Amino acid sequence: MRSRLLALGALAALALVGHGGPVRAEPGPAPYLDPHLSVQDRVDDLLDRMSLADKLGQMTQPERRYVTPDEVTRYRIGSVLSSGGSAPEPNTPESWADMYDGLQRAALAGPLRVPLMYGVDAVHGHNNMVGATIFPHNIGLGATRDPALVRKIGAATAAEMAGTGVDWDFAPCVCVARDDRWGRTYESFGEVPELATMMTTVIDGLQGDELGGPTSVLATAKHYVGDGGTEGGDDRGDVRLPEKELRAVHLPPFQAAVKRGVGSVMISYSSWNGLKMHQNKYLITDVLKGELGFGGFVVSDYNGIDEIDGKPGFTKDEVAAAINAGIDMVMVPTEWRRFIDYLRDEVKNGDVPMERIDDANRRILTKKFELGLFEEPMADRSHLKTVGSAAHRALARRAVAESQVLLKNDDDVLPLDDDDKVFVAGRSADDIGMQSGGWTITWQGKPGPITPGTTILDGIRKAADADATVTYSKDGSGIDPSYDAAIAVVGETPYAEYHGDRTDGLGLDDADRKTIDRLRDVGVPVVVVLVSGRPLDVAEDLPKWDALVAAWLPGTEGQGVADVLYGDADPRGKLPVTWMRSGGQEPINRGDGKKPLFPFGYGLTYD
Ligand code: GLC
Repeated sequence: MRSRLLALGALAALALVGHGGPVRAEPGPAPYLDPHLSVQDRVDDLLDRMSLADKLGQMTQPERRYVTPDEVTRYRIGSVLSSGGSAPEPNTPESWADMYDGLQRAALAGPLRVPLMYGVDAVHGHNNMVGATIFPHNIGLGATRDPALVRKIGAATAAEMAGTGVDWDFAPCVCVARDDRWGRTYESFGEVPELATMMTTVIDGLQGDELGGPTSVLATAKHYVGDGGTEGGDDRGDVRLPEKELRAVHLPPFQAAVKRGVGSVMISYSSWNGLKMHQNKYLITDVLKGELGFGGFVVSDYNGIDEIDGKPGFTKDEVAAAINAGIDMVMVPTEWRRFIDYLRDEVKNGDVPMERIDDANRRILTKKFELGLFEEPMADRSHLKTVGSAAHRALARRAVAESQVLLKNDDDVLPLDDDDKVFVAGRSADDIGMQSGGWTITWQGKPGPITPGTTILDGIRKAADADATVTYSKDGSGIDPSYDAAIAVVGETPYAEYHGDRTDGLGLDDADRKTIDRLRDVGVPVVVVLVSGRPLDVAEDLPKWDALVAAWLPGTEGQGVADVLYGDADPRGKLPVTWMRSGGQEPINRGDGKKPLFPFGYGLTYD
């Protein structure tokens, strides 16, 4: 009993001194530490105790490699992130939890014991972490037209994150991809706002029925606004649209996300009619926070404020422009000390009003209280058993099957019979990295056995009868006319963001085309399975193929592709994007009058 009284006394004392806040004698723990009070009252009390240093720290988000636990304590850092592929060593769920807990203990060592939030891009599972279930990328989920399934994927992702402590997901991207040359097309649910709007159910999955649930993580609607509508699909480029069209095409998914209570919104690198989004006060404060009533907090993109003036690095003016536009937290991975210094100067000289600082803190702290971080700040390792679990992999396999779009099936070459003699070829047939795409273990993703899973070839072997012949040859050499069918699994090598922008055409690699021709030349029916983050320019070759399946970027559960190839699941996917007849047609979208190879919504079935 005595140690508890001493501890409470120390806590009460801690809450009063050492940080420049008002000194008050109080009988028990400070009100903000009382979970029985309303979040509003707790925020008011805490805000009242915070010094300017406390408040500036809450608005600062360094990257994990560039901040130490001791600095988290000293600078009162409010959040830390892992950028794409930034993982502890070894990259295991346990060491993620150890890393999180270490940083959280450091945050709680601050005078006011304000817990931090840890953010990652879990955009198709907890995808920085080896062993996590990797779900299909959003473009494949858009093809399912199944919002309930997508909600379940959000919940499974949140569970795999929760065991590691990570409590903030920079997802979903609710971008509306209008030009397939854009390197982030696969992060979009499709080319029309209705699809992203439909799939905001993933937010309910991630956040739970209400924040603070046992596996709730804060979701992020990104990237506000218009990232998928830039000229030429230029990542971080300029959206040249009248406001009416910007609102009609790119705003609705954010309205839906706000209605679902999304906790944060990330600002786009792109510009609107020449003005960088990171300084657009009208769209961030007047529209998002005012008109849409967004009550969460707004975070910049990674070094996003550096790009406001188009020059490298950031200036005091850029800091002031971003914060005054309505950005509440700045993702400033390395130069975070200078950011704090600049923001402090801008507050002291009056360029950034204290009301803006308080509003930003109020928004950030509200989410921390709602997440329950003041009561349960440490990782709940009881959820670690869900990482890569059979149940989650089964869910992912179902999502893969539902996302397959059958685009051609001459003479009903599909579904295959279990006892067919099958020849499998292609760079993407036996490669977890190729079938997962970008944002998988590393930022860009890469070919190879990067994490446990089932390749498409593994799936084919499991689907076929045990005594059926399934031969694999990456480049198709060794094929002969004795086979009932040949399956060429080809497509794109992983990429992310601007690295995936393609202005030189959207054709298949020559290696892939040679492989397919080798199969076709012996007269065996050829089934092409396209593993890509977007439609590719295949019109010229298509007549030589007997069947075509768009597999998108399925993730670790390649069995779902085989399920459809062998008829264990009927193809039900519908195109979430218009499929060009030639790369020169881009941008090409529903209703624009152009004649596509396959229209938006197209997809065959077996019956
Ligand atoms: C990236 C992306 C954004 C991501 C952030 C943190 O540059 O634009 O989607 O959430 O940085 O990794």
